[in-house]
Amino acid sequence: MSRIAYVNGQYVPHNDAAVHIEDRGYQFADGVYEVIAVVGGQLVDEEPHLKRLGYSLDEIEIEWPVPPAALKAIFREIVRRNRVNDGIVYLQVSRGQAYRDHAFPQDATPALVITARSQAPKIAVRQEGVRVITTPDERWKRVDIKTVGLLPNVLAKQLAVRAGAYECWMVDVQGHVTEGTATNAWIVSDQKELITRQPSHSILNGITRQTVLEIAQSANYRIVERSFSLQEALEASEAFLTSTTSWVVPIIQIDDTRIGEGAPGELTRHLQAQYDAYTAAL
Ligand code: PDD
Repeated sequence: MSRIAYVNGQYVPHNDAAVHIEDRGYQFADGVYEVIAVVGGQLVDEEPHLKRLGYSLDEIEIEWPVPPAALKAIFREIVRRNRVNDGIVYLQVSRGQAYRDHAFPQDATPALVITARSQAPKIAVRQEGVRVITTPDERWKRVDIKTVGLLPNVLAKQLAVRAGAYECWMVDVQGHVTEGTATNAWIVSDQKELITRQPSHSILNGITRQTVLEIAQSANYRIVERSFSLQEALEASEAFLTSTTSWVVPIIQIDDTRIGEGAPGELTRHLQAQYDAYTAAL
């Protein structure tokens, strides 16, 4: 079956889908994006994703390309046309096409691309847990904005791939873990406290992160939103990561150090099951 993409008002075959060579997303990474999970044909946490898109657009002063209600209609149509039952919707908005000049163009129209594809987190990864490596966080200081400027994330993820690891955690100059290249970072202390970094300009406030926090709150877990050092993570009894594409994934090793028993932790397992149940019930 051929894939279909949405580009600036039209549904086109994926292979023919294109934006202009002077699109500012292409030339300056002057654009933002969202990835929304589709589970059983339903969009997971659509509203929070749209809210975060609004935030990203506002922060870099790009207008909504179409109103949120129209985006919702396109999401459903792109999911339908690509027959996605379990997968993702990808949305990107750039400042548009303009004569190359760093300053904002006077008259550019934001460019909108939306795609959908089938995929699901790997069962072995979810069941057995994964290894992460670490690297200095070399990104800019506003990673709370979900921009397409992801080169440091790409390079860090490639380090992980080369090391045979699933993800790379980035560590700030204070020695604190910020987040993964495309995932948020969590640890569980030996006091059974669930610890994840507080939202700030230094992390992307993941939508999965927010949903998992709500689930943990309802389950009466002790939650502490604060920075944690790499050393603290190495000594944690459990660790895991969250994202739209991975959901909840246990971490069993960080760099060369085994975490806890070197197997997925009990609290992680519980949150993973609860999150799965949440998406399955949508
Ligand atoms: N990445 N941190 C970063 C740097 C991310 O890029 C992402 C998501 C997350 C998790 O956010 P959420 O739970 O809203 O997916 C954290 C997406 C999936 C990506 O770039 O493919």
